[in-house]
Amino acid sequence: MLEFSQNGDERGHLVVVEGNKDIPFDIARIFYIYGSDPDVVRGQHANRRTQFVLINVAGSCKVKVLDGKGNEAVFVLNRPHTGIYLPTMVWKDMYDFSEDSVLLCLASEHYDATEYVRNYDEFVKMVNEESE
Ligand code: TYD
Repeated sequence: MLEFSQNGDERGHLVVVEGNKDIPFDIARIFYIYGSDPDVVRGQHANRRTQFVLINVAGSCKVKVLDGKGNEAVFVLNRPHTGIYLPTMVWKDMYDFSEDSVLLCLASEHYDATEYVRNYDEFVKMVNEESE
């Protein structure tokens, strides 16, 4: 998890995220997800090349991260100054979106559908082959 400074004063808060300073990569792409129902599961993929930082700038959601080697962890994103860093080749599910959830995603690469691994069994095979 990453904690960003809030730069708060009587006017409110201003959170800054600078590539290669506050997060460990240069930002090539941003996108954001909102209007997802609470029973929706998004993500469900791993990325060969892209690293991400996810920040719920409004509302909340959960992120389940799996390494394909038997380890998994669930993170709650519910503060606009807290993010999660996701390295390459981890499986992620985003779910439990609150009605007001706006999930900001910072990515290290431009979009390339071919670097997404969307089959879980294939992902498990890839990470276990890599470490042999
Ligand atoms: P998808 O990867 O399914 O979203 P999520 O990871 O939240 O489950 O993406 C939804 C659609 O948006 C899909 O048609 C691909 C497209 N898309 C882009 O064109 N560029 C992007 O940077 C992203 C993340 C998605």
